Amino acid sequence: MNQMNRRGFINLSSLGITSFSIPNFIAKESTESIKPLVASTWDAGINANAAAWKVLVAGGTALDAVEQGVMVTEDEIGCCVGLAANPDRDGHVTLDASIMDHQYNCGSVAFLERIKHPISVARRVMEKTPHVMLVGEGAQQFAIAEGFPLESGALSPDAQKAYDNWLKTSTYRPIINVERVSQPHQNDAAFAAPKRFANGDWNHDTIGMVALDKFGNLSGSCTTSGAGFKMRGRLGDSPIIGAGLYVDNEVGAVVATGQGEDVIRVAGASAVVEWMRQGKSPKEACRLVVEKINKIKKEKAATIQVCFVAINKKGEHGAFALHNGFNYAVQTQEGSKLLESSFISIV
Ligand code: GLY
Repeated sequence: MNQMNRRGFINLSSLGITSFSIPNFIAKESTESIKPLVASTWDAGINANAAAWKVLVAGGTALDAVEQGVMVTEDEIGCCVGLAANPDRDGHVTLDASIMDHQYNCGSVAFLERIKHPISVARRVMEKTPHVMLVGEGAQQFAIAEGFPLESGALSPDAQKAYDNWLKTSTYRPIINVERVSQPHQNDAAFAAPKRFANGDWNHDTIGMVALDKFGNLSGSCTTSGAGFKMRGRLGDSPIIGAGLYVDNEVGAVVATGQGEDVIRVAGASAVVEWMRQGKSPKEACRLVVEKINKIKKEKAATIQVCFVAINKKGEHGAFALHNGFNYAVQTQEGSKLLESSFISIV
């Protein structure tokens, strides 16, 4: 029985409740107008934001901040970002990343192997090629030509263990991220790291980051190894501009995490930006797109997690998730915070 079934599933939207709040657990939507500002997905965002913040307080650009911020996560050992992450079902780690600035410039790489910092390759695609997206062998060739070292293709010890366990059954069984909600940890960085399930089950912990610099410009970045034990060649939303990441400097910046296929089918990040353009707050805009996914997926919504983090031009931030368990990190001049996202239903 998987984790979700053990916990049961309560669809609050079916009861006419579209937003669920637990006092002291759920972040109130920000209404501050603050810059600079950086926000990113999950608790890994705390360290990533700290690196981005150094750039922002030194007067740097949001673009430099979101690149340098998520590079920290690409260097960390975890299940779902960087070369130490879980492999695909053929035993290879394949990485996806995207970046977008305040002038609709964007770049991405997908199905990239043996390169440590896919986010920086994505930026080079944006800045040095006439293209937006490079994939697979071509992306790797480009990276090498740009001076990125070709790393070993060996799995990290944790990933090898997880893969060996997964091979025992070779089942493809998504586990959504709900583990951490039981802990009252608002504004507390010291709780559990993302899980790598020893039995070979997997979860998502894509790092997505959005920032507003002192010049009032927005940028965003996103980097992931995608779904662990995925089919070889599978791409998620993270390298797809408009799905996993979108920035419109007139409006706001949005990143997604979770089940990429379901973010892609609603052009998720772009859709959130369009709701903000129509006057919705970041959190409300995220909620409307998550509700659309919930409606499309029907009962299958219980088996996935999808989450968005958004900031607008005024420096307001917000997030919304399909299920409990999602948190996001925010850094402003007032300090670093880890906030629990609101959500539609509890699993
Ligand atoms: N959200 C990341 C992925 O689905 O690959």
